[in-house]
Amino acid sequence: AQADKGTYPFYMLKEIDEQPNVMRKLSQVYLNDDGQPVINAELLDALKAADRLYIVAAGTSYHAGLVGARLFESLANVPTEVHVSSEFAYNQPLLSKKPFFIFLTQSGETADSREVLLNVNEQNFPSLTITNVPNSTLSREATYTLLLHAGPEIAVASTKAYTAQIALQAILAKALGEADDQPAAKDFDVKQQLALVANGMQALVDEKATFDKLAKADLLKTPNAFYIGRGLDYAVSLETALKLKEISYVQAEGFASGELKHGTIALIEKDTPVIGIITQQNTAGLTRSNLQEVEARGAKTITIVTDALAKPDDTIILPTVDERMTALLSVVPGQLLAYYTSLNKGLDVDKPRNLAKSVTVE
Ligand code: G6P
Repeated sequence: AQADKGTYPFYMLKEIDEQPNVMRKLSQVYLNDDGQPVINAELLDALKAADRLYIVAAGTSYHAGLVGARLFESLANVPTEVHVSSEFAYNQPLLSKKPFFIFLTQSGETADSREVLLNVNEQNFPSLTITNVPNSTLSREATYTLLLHAGPEIAVASTKAYTAQIALQAILAKALGEADDQPAAKDFDVKQQLALVANGMQALVDEKATFDKLAKADLLKTPNAFYIGRGLDYAVSLETALKLKEISYVQAEGFASGELKHGTIALIEKDTPVIGIITQQNTAGLTRSNLQEVEARGAKTITIVTDALAKPDDTIILPTVDERMTALLSVVPGQLLAYYTSLNKGLDVDKPRNLAKSVTVE
């Protein structure tokens, strides 16, 4: 059954708006009243037995994996690699002795990711598919499955599946860390964090007019744009740049803000939009310097900053949550900026040219 658009002009906006409830739903499904994860014991044992996690995915799901890897490393203390499935499939890196594979896939049908899973199965390695679609191919073919419970995602540009994937990885990392007596996991109140995130998302989606205005002022006419950040903010920059390019056809790049000066800064001209994401205390000052560097070369800068790190001139302020969870909030302005740029250009937001919701060919 296809979800109803209701009064929304496009599914994408409806799906952006659903994100606070998806966070609450994941909390209900995967956490008990005490805030402890409820995860299949066999799956946890298999994860515990692994010496390294390999997250394999494509597109937006790959970007969710970049955030997930940081969660597994910081909460569960397990080395974690993230790979693009089409690359991994034919160029498998040297693996650790006891690898465990996590497939992130909204549809559960992406051919590139399935090719890796077939190889993994041939090598008899354990695997988990995290997907939004029960009984999808990758969910059936992996050893374990966890469902995203995000409800059908219809718009080609993925939004709520991305945030659901991150939230569920946070829960799983907490579960694994607890099972392994990791102090960082014990101290991490994932239930409280998801509640804060849900409220923060609500505050952001309630500010639609702000994003509409910003998109009109700074993104509508530009041929190109940059999102920059460091660490988790870099991971989100990749995703927000992808959102912008796929539905508004602005050539957008997500960039590690420190790397910009090593070549790409040559592209900055008068009024080139550069959007800086700043949610991590240890790199906030550095990204601010990088923004000054591009401003000095004529760029028009926009900042997306956590409340705790904000300065008077910042553009968009995010409510403060645990630094490991900020991606769940910092992505939302990027989703809305992409949406309003596409909408104001008169494009078909839900069905951008050349793209499919799920790609079943390699
Ligand atoms: C397509 C979609 C993307 C999606 C990617 C991976 O390219 O247009 O939005 O991120 O496939 O899809 P999956 O279903 O595996 O997450």
